[in-house]
Amino acid sequence: MTRSAQSPTDESPARDIPVRRLEPFPADRLSLRFAGADPVMSHAVAVLSAMFPNGEDFFVRSVRNYRDQVSDPELRQQVNRFAGQETMHGRIHRDFNNRLQEVGFKSNVVDRSVGIGFNGVLARVLPESVQLAVTAALEHYTATLAEVLMSEPKAQELFGDEVRYLLLWHALEESEHKAVAFEVYQEVVGNELLRRAVMQATTGVFVGGLLIGTVYSAASNLGVRDLPELVRSLARLPRSPFLAPGVLRRILSYNRPDFHPDTFDATELVNRWRADLFGTGGVLAERVRT
Ligand SMILES: [Fe+2]
Ligand SMILES: [Fe+2]
Repeated sequence: MTRSAQSPTDESPARDIPVRRLEPFPADRLSLRFAGADPVMSHAVAVLSAMFPNGEDFFVRSVRNYRDQVSDPELRQQVNRFAGQETMHGRIHRDFNNRLQEVGFKSNVVDRSVGIGFNGVLARVLPESVQLAVTAALEHYTATLAEVLMSEPKAQELFGDEVRYLLLWHALEESEHKAVAFEVYQEVVGNELLRRAVMQATTGVFVGGLLIGTVYSAASNLGVRDLPELVRSLARLPRSPFLAPGVLRRILSYNRPDFHPDTFDATELVNRWRADLFGTGGVLAERVRT
């Protein structure tokens, strides 16, 4: 099912965005090859995880800046729940990142760099409308990657139980709240040219940052004798489900004038993972604090 773009006067549909307070995940043994025994994928996922706590802190503040200007009470409520989910993601990823750091990943350096870049610099120099547009753009990235993970067994099989369920929980909630920042932007800013221009700039910063972080992280841990493995790992990269042509097309769809996050209907996917993770007998059901 597809839906057309909302006009700023449309009301937001009711969305179920539950804030699940989770106990820490059981600690699997982690290694420098925790993602599919693949060095490049492992460093890329570790860098992405290290970006989350400060990055999502920026997301929450950029959306909250506009909360009181949102006229639709349903959307205002969704802003609160979006903030609750993102805050929990930051907390769980911080624990996970500390353990990645112990194994040898450069999580602390990435975490500090994102903190300085986003919360130290961008949050001070960019107008609030641009900060919100940055968040809407990055929420499109997180929702896209999340729904790839939720739908592709090949992506899920890269990880052991702990990391797989941590990422699937995060992915489920990214999908649940994927329209919130976008709809706040549409209602209170609504500048289409700015939205698309900021997406171009944000793509450069995000993809560039992820690449630089991954190269730095890998170079800090791999020696000359690891080169053959590294070459094989790079050769496998184009076959990664996260880099499939459909994923790229979906990222680019953000530039269409009629774009809305719900164009990609993930209702079935969300229902399936809600049941598998948090339904009766779900793998994470007993980890939710009441
Ligand atoms: Fe998140
Ligand atoms: Fe998010």
